Amino acid sequence: MKRLFALLIAALPLCAIAQESIDQRVEELLSKMTIEDKIGQLNQMDGRRDLEKIKQEVREGTLSSIMNIVDPAVTNELQRIAIEESPAGIPLLFARDVVHGFNTVLPIPLGMAASWDEELIEAAARNTALEATERGIRWAFAPMMDIARDARWGRIAESFGEDTYMSGRLASAVVRGYQGESLADQTSMAACAKHFVGYGDAEGGRDYNTTSIPPRTLRDVYLPPFRACVENGCASIMTSFNDNDGLPSTGNKWLLTELLREQWGFEGVVVSDWGSVAGLIPHGVAHDKRDAAHQCIEAGCDVDMSSRSYLLHLKELIESGEVDMAVLDEAVRRVLKLKMELGLFEQPYARTPEQSDIYSEPILATACRLAEESIVMLKNEGGVLPIVPEKVKRVLVVGPMADAPYDQMGTWALDGDKTHTVTPIAAMQQEWGEKVQIEYIPCLTHPRDKSTAEFKKMKKAARKADVVVAFVGEEQMMSGEAHSLSSLDLQGAQAEMLEALAEVDTPLVTVFLAGRPLTIARQVEISDAILYAWHPGTMGGQALSNIIFGKANPSGKLPVTFPRNVGQIPLYYNHKHTSHRAKGTEGNLDNIPREAYQSVMGHTSSYLDVAPSPLFHFGYGLSYTTFELSDIKIENTAVTAEDTIRVSIVVTNTGEVDGTEVVQLYTGRKTASVTQPMKELKGFQRVTLKAGESRRVEFELPVGRLAFHNRDMVLAVEEGKYTLWLGTDCQNGLKTYFKIIK
Ligand code: BGC
Repeated sequence: MKRLFALLIAALPLCAIAQESIDQRVEELLSKMTIEDKIGQLNQMDGRRDLEKIKQEVREGTLSSIMNIVDPAVTNELQRIAIEESPAGIPLLFARDVVHGFNTVLPIPLGMAASWDEELIEAAARNTALEATERGIRWAFAPMMDIARDARWGRIAESFGEDTYMSGRLASAVVRGYQGESLADQTSMAACAKHFVGYGDAEGGRDYNTTSIPPRTLRDVYLPPFRACVENGCASIMTSFNDNDGLPSTGNKWLLTELLREQWGFEGVVVSDWGSVAGLIPHGVAHDKRDAAHQCIEAGCDVDMSSRSYLLHLKELIESGEVDMAVLDEAVRRVLKLKMELGLFEQPYARTPEQSDIYSEPILATACRLAEESIVMLKNEGGVLPIVPEKVKRVLVVGPMADAPYDQMGTWALDGDKTHTVTPIAAMQQEWGEKVQIEYIPCLTHPRDKSTAEFKKMKKAARKADVVVAFVGEEQMMSGEAHSLSSLDLQGAQAEMLEALAEVDTPLVTVFLAGRPLTIARQVEISDAILYAWHPGTMGGQALSNIIFGKANPSGKLPVTFPRNVGQIPLYYNHKHTSHRAKGTEGNLDNIPREAYQSVMGHTSSYLDVAPSPLFHFGYGLSYTTFELSDIKIENTAVTAEDTIRVSIVVTNTGEVDGTEVVQLYTGRKTASVTQPMKELKGFQRVTLKAGESRRVEFELPVGRLAFHNRDMVLAVEEGKYTLWLGTDCQNGLKTYFKIIK
């Protein structure tokens, strides 16, 4: 009877999915469900298990959502069982970590962020949804928007970097790309903003570690990207593994209910992270799974990912009166609503386009463009790049990342196939091999290879070459979940390999492919040019070849500060005003006198052995052309909280080639009721100009964007004086002033 009811609902035409009708249908369906049916809807399990067992669970109605099955023949069969044989006939929802591309792997999110191109990121995310939905996936566990200020943390690769405003904007672009115009469209996936919240602040950069984020920082730095996603209609949110100040997120009622639902008005689904309901036990705040289930359902976590705590214990918790049926109903309601919004009751099976979108030409082209835009040029002395075939006859390519098709895909390349990866050496040889003589000596078989056996041969070849391009970096396995590092130096004999090359008088271009900022001070010193390409994905080699030979002009800018050494971490641009600010000249052990009095070095917030500044600032990146900023103009210098500031600047391409500059808007105030960051990013625009072209670029800054949690912990715009910078990175630019008045 119940199944008939679900099928009846399925018969409604797709166009009839209006919100009221969904709410109505949810209520009707809910009223007919047993307690077992309901609890089953809150259970999500991995699909990489015995298929017959999974089928049985689906048949029994104890599974609502299944992760990690990407074979449509299997998802469709399981779906058929759910609809035709399970007690309530409710369709399944198939989920996957679709974090940076699907079959076509995009640059890691940290790389995407370096493009500062939200339109392109949205377009690439839409393509990803096309590929993934063809495989039956309708729920993607992304975007990840943890603020990452510590490159030791392996998951920095999955983040959009260290900035709050930027993470919110880029994560929202992914949400829009995944969810498309309508969730009901079969090419759309429900996005999942994760990890809620503070996970990126893991103490010491050790994954899963405890966090101690004070309430104001939590609200002003870590929460806003999630809020931005909620405002962009993100369908779901995933809780984080960490405990902050004593409370694991998955059992935090203030976070999941009071803040997220009651204050922000979020109506979507909250899913735990993998096993994080039962995770309350090792955290030491729950005695057992029953206790954990009790705490988490009450806190507002709707779906239990893979711990089975809800499945095993919610029934007895309801029957004993410890959990109210209304609490269970509320969680189930949200899951049913999501399934209806996705149109699963009408079209439960994987879409079958006439022509497959997987690895299609347009999808690969977009991935290539995004990879190009994600590459940051950090140095280019003597204009060694781009390589111009008319001038350069012999190129020597070396290094373990020149041909590492698996590694260059990056951390979440679950569905990427390395045979489709275009590596740098393949692309360079294919496109330029006839015009330039390209010799390739890998020298090291992989980045941890310690062998120096090939060095002699490499040096000999380097002497004969006009330029050497060395591809170094990190394996895929060195970043991502549970892959933190205590040293960010190049591994294996890579540093020695570069030293050996630097001994030869041939210009050296060093290209890094890595999941995080590495500590590269020495390599910057000894190389003539540096490209930082992150893990650039399937088309990364093509993108690099285009940049190296000047078919594309670098436009990437760092979304994260590069420290000089690990000891400087955490180092981020938007640090607070402090007393004892460093002067910038500190950090040289040779300047310390012997047996002088204690305060001879002054009293500044710095280290004795390293400069206080980073190696490269947030927002930094070079181009093959040069840009000049001039004539900053602000329309209104006294504004109220409701106003919008209009500010503009003239950007001129002063070089010989066309190029793109990312103009960045920062604001800062010296005095407020609580200490403030020295400056904060509040806007950015990519500006493409022909050689010699000039354009006035305009920004609109709603004053409301400057709100922060004041001394009374109220989010408000405070009156006072501000400096506003428009610049090409967080350090260089022109400034103007305004004040906020009553
Ligand atoms: C990760 C999540 C991921 C989930 C499902 C967890 O271990 O922290 O980011 O979405 O697994 O694969």
